[in-house]
Amino acid sequence: MTTPARGSLLGIEHLETKEILRLLQLARRMNPQKARPLLRGKRIVLLFYEASTRTRTSFEFAAKALGATTTLVLSSGSSIEKGESIIDTGNTLRAVGADCIVMRHPAAGAPHFMAKHLDIPIVNAGDGMHEHPSQALLDAVTILKHKKSLKGLQATIIGDIFHSRVARSACHLLTRMGVKMTLCGPPELVPDVAATLMPGLRLTRHIEEALRGTDVIMLLRVQSERLAGLKIQLQDYIARYQMTAARLKLAKRDAIVMHPGPIIRGLELTAEVADCPQSVIVDEVRNGVPTRMAILARALGRA
Ligand code: CP
Repeated sequence: MTTPARGSLLGIEHLETKEILRLLQLARRMNPQKARPLLRGKRIVLLFYEASTRTRTSFEFAAKALGATTTLVLSSGSSIEKGESIIDTGNTLRAVGADCIVMRHPAAGAPHFMAKHLDIPIVNAGDGMHEHPSQALLDAVTILKHKKSLKGLQATIIGDIFHSRVARSACHLLTRMGVKMTLCGPPELVPDVAATLMPGLRLTRHIEEALRGTDVIMLLRVQSERLAGLKIQLQDYIARYQMTAARLKLAKRDAIVMHPGPIIRGLELTAEVADCPQSVIVDEVRNGVPTRMAILARALGRA
């Protein structure tokens, strides 16, 4: 095998715009409470080499809402601990009857590698610092619930963009849909080169400048587990970049506050902002289920 199986979702960067639009449309039609059993008889493996709460549970609930059975394989407590390779793990899961694998891995490209070797669809649930396509789709679904359309919106991403697969996938998707994107953070977390990676990105180091006139604010957690020697003075970060109620007033009056989670209250945002009426953070989590229903239905050729 060299070409990923039809229905695989490995990233947003190489996904055709018409496929993104189809997934967004399908996600908005999916209702976890009234789902048709489109995937009855299908077996979906959730293969997680890295911690997850939202992505893992919402893929599981999405699969079950559509009538599929699921099984969870974590690196801890499985034969991955004994040294089994990615491909041998994939072949094993295929041999026991998996119809689709949803995979999270700390290494960029791991799901793509798996997809090259297996004849079943692979869904990327987050690969290292590379992409998190289902998060970008559910975020677009969330924005569309609050704004008429994506085209012409101004969105600002603040925080640890360098380590963020969420930011990368969001930039690919939202710039493609005509959103004007601003990136904001210190040089350690948002290097100058970030703004040159795709057309239509603006970079500023000043949160006040980033927020003025924005429709959508996306906050990111400082990913301490990926800093690897990089020293961030957290008190300095909080002073310069924490989203506070006072700073939120600089954005448009109807701006929404997003965060892919997990949130760290008191670091990238205050508790007051996390729980304010403009915060759609819980809504993002909720939208993860119908969005992942759409992704799984497409993966298994039922949409
Ligand atoms: N947003 C996100 O990927 O959250 P989890 O790590 O909890 O899945």
